[in-house]
Amino acid sequence: MSNKNVYIDYDDCVIHVNDVSKSFGNLHVLRNVDLKLYNGENLVVLGRSGTGKSVLIKLISGLLMPDSGDINVLGQVVNHLDEKALRLLRLKIGFSFQNSALYDSMTVRENLEFPLVRNKRNLTRMEIDREVEEVLEGVGLLQTINQMPSELSGGQRKRIGIARTLILRPDIMLYDEPTAGLDPITCLDINGLINDVQERYKTSSIIITHDLACAKMVGDRMVMLLDGKFERQGTFDEIFATDDVRVKPFYDYNFIV
Ligand SMILES: Nc1ncnc2c1ncn2[C@@H]1O[C@H](COP(=O)(O)OP(=O)(O)OP(=O)(O)O)[C@@H](O)[C@H]1O
Ligand SMILES: [Mg+2]
Repeated sequence: MSNKNVYIDYDDCVIHVNDVSKSFGNLHVLRNVDLKLYNGENLVVLGRSGTGKSVLIKLISGLLMPDSGDINVLGQVVNHLDEKALRLLRLKIGFSFQNSALYDSMTVRENLEFPLVRNKRNLTRMEIDREVEEVLEGVGLLQTINQMPSELSGGQRKRIGIARTLILRPDIMLYDEPTAGLDPITCLDINGLINDVQERYKTSSIIITHDLACAKMVGDRMVMLLDGKFERQGTFDEIFATDDVRVKPFYDYNFIV
């Protein structure tokens, strides 16, 4: 399936979305959804625009609450936690937002220091510097440490955004459309980074994408959200071995047209 150098523990489920439903008024976005993320894996979530992919990862990180069902993350039921417990759990979840913005008035170094200083108040100056430099090195951009975000390319900004998430050493990474708006070469670069992060930081990740090349390159397993449910699950080839008119256009558009 994958030739990456990673160990996936299929006996250890780090996220379990259990029979979850979520509506906004009359709009039933998720209908009794079940999903598991195993320790060490990259799980790709596919689905048309507006099917509820971002809602799903907002539910997982406790930014939204389900109408019914439970969301278990690292052994805790997210929808039963109080604010303080939720905040502590969120420190273990790295959330790379769909439009992850850096603070434009801060240098790369200051952007990376920000989550550290805010969440780990007991670090010394030297420890902060070491952490920032190490994580920047990890994403291959140590040379940009004193630059402003406006001086970076879109791909570099994306990498810095991921570095800013990694700096808290999360167990889980949630990537929302990590390659959106990037050129094909930069996409390959970001996909490589997602795999590097999986190997180097031993993270378990959910990657939301419309980009099937990205899905193929990073995903150990894939699920497709169709009409509020994960009707198709498996490897890339398994997902697309169908004539389902809701599924085929994804493949045709990416690889044939
Ligand atoms: N806080 C909210 N209040 C009301 N409706 C919402 C809210 N969040 C999401 N929705 C609706 O839920 C549906 C799913 O939204 P979501 O952002 O999860 O889509 P998506 O699958 O991530 O789409 P895209 O691929 O375009 O990012 C949309 O119709 C959206 O308008
Ligand atoms: Mg979205």
